[in-house]
Amino acid sequence: MGRAATDALVEYARPQAGMQVLDLAAGTGEPGITLAQRVRPAGHVTALDLSQELLDIAAQRAGQRGLTNFSTQQADAHSLPFPDNSFDLVLSNIAIHNVKGKVARDKVIEEAVRVLRPGGRLLIADMRGTSQYRDRLVQLGMTDVMRKNLGWRLWWSGPWLPTRLVTATKPPMGPITTRAALIATS
Ligand SMILES: C[S@@+](CC[C@H](N)C(=O)[O-])C[C@H]1O[C@@H](n2cnc3c(N)ncnc32)[C@H](O)[C@@H]1O
Repeated sequence: MGRAATDALVEYARPQAGMQVLDLAAGTGEPGITLAQRVRPAGHVTALDLSQELLDIAAQRAGQRGLTNFSTQQADAHSLPFPDNSFDLVLSNIAIHNVKGKVARDKVIEEAVRVLRPGGRLLIADMRGTSQYRDRLVQLGMTDVMRKNLGWRLWWSGPWLPTRLVTATKPPMGPITTRAALIATS
């Protein structure tokens, strides 16, 4: 991914010192490494990916920058190894379209929402599938759900393949669907 695209995504993420961040399907570590520089010293970035090989490169790159607040976790995005409400910011860059099948992609979105703390933000940049991500986030009761085209600098090969960004906020009381389920079972 190009520098311009990484920088754009990091700015949309509005990083602040102290934030706990998950870079979902992080590959070799961008934009998570840039975010780790922005949230230190108290903040932390976890880079999660299926590929240990790519995560090893990410860890090496973070080490070269002297970052001690960046760690990696090999796992499948369908089943995140974190408790509910763990992160202030969950971000995924050009990755979820790799997950085959709508049901599986919806599950990744649900997991991202689950590990986000109430009031936390989710950002998903991708070149395909962003309408589906937006619709699922609305169904899950996320607020401020927006989908935007990141503009001509982030075309992959031309205007027929733009990068779009979906952003959403987890309501302070958690997603409405979760609240409804709690009320129904209480
Ligand atoms: C195009 S790369 C993007 C990597 C990084 N986000 C970036 O911006 O450079 C897509 C990544 O998604 C990862 N990936 C695909 N399916 C995954 C899954 N189910 N769980 C975790 N990571 C996955 C791949 O291993 C790969 O590193």
